[in-house]
Amino acid sequence: MAIPDWILQLGYDGLDRGVVPDFIVRLAIRALLRQRLREIDYGSLEVNHAMKMAWIEGVKRRTTIADVPEKANEQHYEVSTKFILSTLGPRAKYSSCLFPTGNETLEEAEVLMLESYCQKAQLQDGQDVLDLGCGWGSLSLYLAQKYPKSRIIGLSNSSTQKAHIDATARSLGLTNLDIITTDVNTHDFQETTRFDRILSIEMFEHMKNYQVLLQKISTWLKFTDSLLFIHIFCHRMTPYHFEDTEDKEGGDKTNWMAKNFFSGGTMPSHDLLLYFQDDLTLVRSWYLSGTHYSRTLEAWLKLQDQNGEAGLQELQADAKAKGQDPIEGVKAFYRFRVFYMACSELFGFDRGQEWGVGHYLFKRKNVA
Ligand SMILES: C[S@@+](CC[C@H](N)C(=O)[O-])C[C@H]1O[C@@H](n2cnc3c(N)ncnc32)[C@H](O)[C@@H]1O
Repeated sequence: MAIPDWILQLGYDGLDRGVVPDFIVRLAIRALLRQRLREIDYGSLEVNHAMKMAWIEGVKRRTTIADVPEKANEQHYEVSTKFILSTLGPRAKYSSCLFPTGNETLEEAEVLMLESYCQKAQLQDGQDVLDLGCGWGSLSLYLAQKYPKSRIIGLSNSSTQKAHIDATARSLGLTNLDIITTDVNTHDFQETTRFDRILSIEMFEHMKNYQVLLQKISTWLKFTDSLLFIHIFCHRMTPYHFEDTEDKEGGDKTNWMAKNFFSGGTMPSHDLLLYFQDDLTLVRSWYLSGTHYSRTLEAWLKLQDQNGEAGLQELQADAKAKGQDPIEGVKAFYRFRVFYMACSELFGFDRGQEWGVGHYLFKRKNVA
């Protein structure tokens, strides 16, 4: 049975004030996740597959690579840097970390995942590398330190992320790293800028037209021995959209996530990118249990709570600086708590076998 809208609205108001106990929030999230699974299951593999093909045709017809990139900045990437960093590990990795035994600290798990990218993407010192969707610099800074002869470019559409990475690079004395602020919808590199490796960590979930995006990225790779490595979160079978309004192509019906954190967002299926091989060929792929991400998110939630008082003050000051009522900062604080809890429950569902993380290695088509 679907949860009635009026109960959801009452719950959302309570969430904004931080008055709903966590165990109730988590029970409600699990109910919504089960509802989601019912919504994306059309009853047979035959129909489910046909729906997936229709969904893929739909995104190929989209006129933009990414919808509403300014909303992603508002919801995450240009929220107070001080606040966001107070909830993340020391390398500010805003994506799944790796917990092979489950006993690692967040700091260790950040490095384990970053190191796994270096192995899987076959990185070597001296290469030209693009970190596409660089966040607060976890990978860009790691690579610039590990590979001093490499030239690293980090790209994101957030100017506050650039300010943070530039300041950190200066304090570390790094001179082989450039951060550019631009929208991947419209950005192109000059012909003289081409890469041996492009890595993109959890940016594709903000995208829609993967055909146009991958075509564009393929032209940024050098002709010889170049590789593209992608990390996404995903559902094991079914792609779907997060949208503020109900979408006939399989959109979000519960809205809270779409409205507050993931406007224009996509939940890819694990096999989604395999349907976009016009310009790139898959070399290999990996599936990582959602439990890695669930552990990451629980660690972020713990840090947010540990630094809660300062975090609340910071978000209120940030709201004021942006010309809003400081109460908006309070709402943002409690929404982030629910966001981390909701994502942890999603990735922890059925021990990480329903939603998880996909890694993909592609090479340019028809070249050496
Ligand atoms: C989930 S964060 C991941 C950050 C980083 N890769 C990490 O692992 O910590 C997604 C990143 O993609 C960037 N991004 C999202 N939409 C974009 C767009 N349209 N153009 C450029 N960057 C975008 C965001 O600014 C952010 O840096």
